[in-house]
Amino acid sequence: MAQNGVGFGMRAGILGTGSALPKKVLTNQDLEKIVDTSDEWIVTRTGIRERRIAEAAEATSDYALLAGQRALASAGIQAEDLDMIMVSTVTPDMLFPSTASLVQDRLGATHAAAFDLEAACTGFMYGDFLASALVNSGQCRYVLVISADLLSRITDYEDRSTCVLFGDGAGAAVVGLVPEDKGFLSFHLGSDGAGGKFLYMPGGGSRMPASEESVKSRQHFLKMEGQETFKYAVRAMGVSVERVLSDAHLDMADVDLLVPHQANIRIIEAIRNRLHLDPAKVMYTIEKYGNTSASSIPIALDEAVKQGKVHPGQVALMVGFGAGMTWGAIAVRL
Ligand code: COA
Repeated sequence: MAQNGVGFGMRAGILGTGSALPKKVLTNQDLEKIVDTSDEWIVTRTGIRERRIAEAAEATSDYALLAGQRALASAGIQAEDLDMIMVSTVTPDMLFPSTASLVQDRLGATHAAAFDLEAACTGFMYGDFLASALVNSGQCRYVLVISADLLSRITDYEDRSTCVLFGDGAGAAVVGLVPEDKGFLSFHLGSDGAGGKFLYMPGGGSRMPASEESVKSRQHFLKMEGQETFKYAVRAMGVSVERVLSDAHLDMADVDLLVPHQANIRIIEAIRNRLHLDPAKVMYTIEKYGNTSASSIPIALDEAVKQGKVHPGQVALMVGFGAGMTWGAIAVRL
């Protein structure tokens, strides 16, 4: 049984991070050859120049595994020491078994329970929240939280309003006990199912199982109302940031780095302006990876750590939103 360190000078925090991205690059110029779009439109409306795309023979678990292995290495934790593996994804290898179970096997995490969670692009916020609760309660010592998606698999490359936005990738963090002057400071999560109609994939579930007709009518690709999603994102992320700051008794001056979901540079800039933040205190990966769903925040966090944009002892504020609608933010001292 794991020891509960809460009350003994310890609390849940991030022990290590990792990420994994496909090598293949899809540029805006490549997209110009596929749909009626232009590099100029994509860059000014989204901030994206290129994104990574997995090979046809690959699956989400391949990248989830790599990101997980890298997070374990950075935390100095062995796979056998894990108590729990969570994978947040909307593009699992298959509906079941869970992608987390596939990763658990390939990692050799023989003592870990494993399950997938689905909160779309907010998955890493939900995963960290659960992992923190499991560690703080003493139920788990080490939890591996992975967010992984191959959005290229559900992107309609005949729909110019969505296909320019998305890319593939995975990010991960190992959550365990850290000295109590570090670790998770506060969380805020939200959901509003009434907004579900703005971003969804109709086909492939129990409502519309795959059929010849569903494939022909392109129901197995994601559908989005861009402007509604945009407004929702700015509003929801603003609320979440304010809540985590006030719950942690912090103000923006105490935050060393904002790590926002990378969906659109204009959404990130709207949040940055609302918070009166210097661009140097914001992590941007949107230009090179596009929107990689729930993995965008852990990929950005991992790159920020590796690039020295945030140091041990400093405060990172992660904030995301996604289909559901779902949203959430986390303040963490690394
Ligand atoms: N290339 C060229 N033109 C395009 C285009 C593309 N890839 N996609 C759309 N357009 C056109 C539209 O057809 C429209 O033309 P019209 O005025 O002749 O009708 C025009 O550009 C403006 O479209 P609009 O949808 O108003 O653009 P926008 O400024 O809202 O940008 C998004 C579109 C999708 C980039 C933006 O709404 C967005 O980022 N929304 C949030 C998406 C998001 O975050 N999703 C993930 C959530 S996790």
